Amino acid sequence: MAVPLFASSLERHHDALIDRISAVVRSGRYVLGPEVEAFERELAAYLGVSHVVGVANGTDALTIALRAAGVQPGDEVVVPSFTFYATPEAVVAAGAVPVFCDIDPATFCVTRDAVERAVTDRTRAVVPVHLFGNVAPVDEMRDLGLAIVEDAAQAVGASLRGRPAGALGDAGTFSFFPSKNLPCLGDGGAVATDDDDIAERVRRLRFHGSDDKETFFDAGYNSRLDELQAAALRVLLPELDGWNEARRRAAAEYEEGGLGDVLALPRAVDGAEHVYHLFVCRHPDADRLAAALRDRGIGARGSYRTPCHRQPGMAGYGGEALDLPGTDEAARTNIALPMGTALSNDDIKEVIDAARTAASGLD
Ligand SMILES: Cc1ncc(COP(=O)(O)O)c(C=O)c1O
Repeated sequence: MAVPLFASSLERHHDALIDRISAVVRSGRYVLGPEVEAFERELAAYLGVSHVVGVANGTDALTIALRAAGVQPGDEVVVPSFTFYATPEAVVAAGAVPVFCDIDPATFCVTRDAVERAVTDRTRAVVPVHLFGNVAPVDEMRDLGLAIVEDAAQAVGASLRGRPAGALGDAGTFSFFPSKNLPCLGDGGAVATDDDDIAERVRRLRFHGSDDKETFFDAGYNSRLDELQAAALRVLLPELDGWNEARRRAAAEYEEGGLGDVLALPRAVDGAEHVYHLFVCRHPDADRLAAALRDRGIGARGSYRTPCHRQPGMAGYGGEALDLPGTDEAARTNIALPMGTALSNDDIKEVIDAARTAASGLD
């Protein structure tokens, strides 16, 4: 029996999505209208923050949030190297300098120590990334004197000691790319914040640096969440907690089924409620194990095998001189196994059996 890497139940919502999208088409309002406003209010209520501002995607959300949080050209911003390339890319797009820090390979997240080691007198901000649905220990970083912009692209609905990911720092950013835990039907993103000034600057920056199309205060962006995507997100937001619960149940079944005898299982940061955007384990021979699993019809793959500080596009930021052992270990050993909102008990048993057989065949 084949088990895909991503098991989605979105199909069940196709009719509701089509109905809402038809209504938007008929309304004639396509950009910054009532759907975006309502979605911003609904996501803000879900996160318990004062403001959510919809933007075009999660990468723009980070760039705009960094600038809104006070990052100026030439400032240093600490980011993990083990993340999707968009994280440091957004720092560069904000005119700032990414300074790469290490992670704890057991959680795939930054630690306070790792961030502190990367801080200089030019550091303005840190971007803790809530990777794979885990939550970086943001509460331990509050006294570093830096702006904290959380990259919660992979962690909508996760929490740390009861507080939502994306609502722990000065601002938090989200992506609604279709593979994310809260998907839209194309590209979409948002910035969440409790800070009125940051929210106002984000609103301006997403629209060319203007409040009214008359006066332009800044060189901003054309980066708006559109009405069709907001309408889709309003259909799907009420599903998010149930979906994340299904992901957590699948993770618990992997553990109860003994998968931990074969691979190192994902570990939640202390106090974090993980939402398993991906179910990423570790194994010393990850690539061979993934290939052997794929031969058996089981979706498996590694992520970020070349971490950001070694990507050619980041060559100007001192990566070759860095020693990031946790990053190197995570990059070499990580392996994602099937996860999603539609995994059956039988799928999970199949994955565990296949992993046992495949791992024993590697010796
Ligand atoms: C950790 C992380 N940050 C940022 C992004 C960027 O989001 P988007 O693709 O919506 O621009 C992603 C998307 O994959 C991501 O995984």
